[in-house]
Amino acid sequence: AGLPVHFFPVVGSTNDEARRLAEAGAPAGTVVVADRQTSGRGRRGRTWLSPPGGLYFSVLLRPQLEPRLVALLSLASAVAVTRAVQSAVPGAGARVKWPNDVIAGGRKLAGILAELSADQETVRFAVIGIGINVETPELDPARAGGGLPPIGLRQLGWTQPRAEVLGRVLAALHRLLGGFEPGQLPAAALVAEASSLLAWKGEEVEVRTPFGSWQGRLAGLAGDGALVLERPGGARQSLYAGDVTLREA
Ligand code: BTN
Repeated sequence: AGLPVHFFPVVGSTNDEARRLAEAGAPAGTVVVADRQTSGRGRRGRTWLSPPGGLYFSVLLRPQLEPRLVALLSLASAVAVTRAVQSAVPGAGARVKWPNDVIAGGRKLAGILAELSADQETVRFAVIGIGINVETPELDPARAGGGLPPIGLRQLGWTQPRAEVLGRVLAALHRLLGGFEPGQLPAAALVAEASSLLAWKGEEVEVRTPFGSWQGRLAGLAGDGALVLERPGGARQSLYAGDVTLREA
């Protein structure tokens, strides 16, 4: 309610526009939305194909958070998208794919790219970029072979306008963060909610990290948002970053 929303028919990346606004002093809760992006970005330097008709937006936050806890912001965004979809299309089976994707029926519905302006001790601001597939997009050739196939809201039975999706996601995010103004993040409640919506709980997964790959049963989330794997033999291991894939039996 009352958020400054900047709409662009076309931008390079909504994350870049949000960053520009942040540098110019825009308040927390500023939202940048575009109908299409010419250089949409994904995680790990990937491209996020952004044809007209999808939903591409970025939210500016100015959290009082240690940099190591910033992953909670993208986790909150994944929960917000999942909640928004669940509230409108309950049968869609949307789930949070840790750390920051939303999937439905084993396909990718939304991705999140959090970018920070921070030094060792303080976060100046965070831009949370959210891309939600509306029509099911064509598979980006750069991603073919890796990642999950995409699915769009329309295919899940969503008939309302995109603005309705946006409104629901922003309302859910506002609730999960305890407001957009700087303050204490309600981390415990947020992680508990993420945990209850987590995809692949109890399944055998593989997690690829820059430091190597780990296999085990996905046990859940630790209080700080880390993914907990139960390794063969029963030892538990917390992981703070990585790409999770389901291991086919
Ligand atoms: C991923 O799954 O790798 C993350 C994709 C994030 C895409 C969104 S679309 C809005 C914002 N602007 C960008 O350039 N990227 C994010």
